[in-house]
Amino acid sequence: MVLHKGTASDPDRKTGANPLYAGAYPALAANIRLPHDSLAEDPLPPDTALQLVRDELMLDGNARLNLATFVTTWMEPQARELMAECVDKNMIDKDEYPQTAELERRCVNILADLWHAPDPTAIMGCSTTGSSEACMLAGMALKRRWSKLGRTGKPNLVMGANVQVCWEKFCEYWEVEPRLVPMDGDRFHLTADEAIARCDENTIGVVAILGSTFDGSYEPVAEIAAALDGLAERSGWDIPVHVDGASGAMIAPFLDPDLSWDFRLLRVASINTSGHKYGLVYPGVGWVLWRDKEALPEELVLNVNYLGGDMPTFALNFSRPGAEVAAQYYTFVRLGREGFRAVQQASRDVATQLADGIAELGPFRLLTRGDQLPVFAFTTKPDVEGFDVFDVSRRLRERGWLVPAYTFPENRTDLAVLRIVVRNGFTHDLADLLLADLRRLLPELDHGPRRRTAFHH
Ligand SMILES: Cc1ncc(COP(=O)(O)O)c(C=O)c1O
Repeated sequence: MVLHKGTASDPDRKTGANPLYAGAYPALAANIRLPHDSLAEDPLPPDTALQLVRDELMLDGNARLNLATFVTTWMEPQARELMAECVDKNMIDKDEYPQTAELERRCVNILADLWHAPDPTAIMGCSTTGSSEACMLAGMALKRRWSKLGRTGKPNLVMGANVQVCWEKFCEYWEVEPRLVPMDGDRFHLTADEAIARCDENTIGVVAILGSTFDGSYEPVAEIAAALDGLAERSGWDIPVHVDGASGAMIAPFLDPDLSWDFRLLRVASINTSGHKYGLVYPGVGWVLWRDKEALPEELVLNVNYLGGDMPTFALNFSRPGAEVAAQYYTFVRLGREGFRAVQQASRDVATQLADGIAELGPFRLLTRGDQLPVFAFTTKPDVEGFDVFDVSRRLRERGWLVPAYTFPENRTDLAVLRIVVRNGFTHDLADLLLADLRRLLPELDHGPRRRTAFHH
């Protein structure tokens, strides 16, 4: 292993690098080797270190062309400025940074209002590192609420096989049986009948997703809640719903105001969202809110006094950056309801038009069309034999587009799709360019029937 050999007093002499390298000319750093497995003995000048690390990161590609991610890849320069100013603030130090804590509290209130909390003063909520942590906390609250009922069996959680992996993690880490409803034919997410068929007295909750990571479709939260109301009447099992609104909880309030999916439904005990998805903030911030104190058993909230003051905390992490919370509040201040509506509508318009354009190309069949989450999945038509979705994904990469291809879960593992996530900053213009690239590469891909390999990854 070759490490750089500079010293603090004369870093460049010993590396043999030109001392002008740092500010002047990258090629002169040719004989500096960055440490891969253990620290170098000596420091490098900051500009040299910056240049070398930055150079390596060029290989990451362009985040804006990453149509696989739901996570924000563009914010205004003003938001970046604010985040840079807050980068040294630890979210947990609420006594030291009371105003950051106040911004967090306001964000929770704003979300409670957006999600129609009947009594905003009763709402419990906090920021997290993302939806995964938010879902862990919500799942823990469901489990604790259930355990207080004094039932003896093993707890289970009912959800569609299309849940994001965080729910499988939750079940594994907290020893809850996952009851996954498999996909079936063209049913790609959870339905009310399928959900209640798997509930029993040890069901800690039902997770409904708004919307599905696999295809962007909304699960029928109101129908699931109504079916659980009926089940409660018949059996006495009072099973709460958690809505995983990682993406949709920041879309539906603005674009689907009449859709009943949130705290308007009495059975909805808690909701999470990712501030860093359609909350339009850079990673990592998430949110989780509980309807009232009953939905969040108080013993889960611990108090610490060693930060000064007496601070309640319910989180998996302790220290965590404050910048994202400030940035979330910035987006709320900056956009207001109308701004959010316009931004989300623009994404939905781009998604639906791009989906239509892809359908018109001929070889593709849409599973969804981007009119719920601005996300859609499509596959090749059955008569397309010359190529598959994995070929398309690979070829698009040559132009810089990252469009993932993947197989669906259990029962539909035969179905492989491409998925496009349209986010703020993915304009009609970029969508046209993507469509033009797709149109151009199709004739090159289509060489007629060929022998298929068994697995594509
Ligand atoms: C429905 C759903 N839940 C949870 C998550 C996990 O979110 P995060 O990346 O914020 O932890 C995702 C991420 O894509 C998601 O789509």
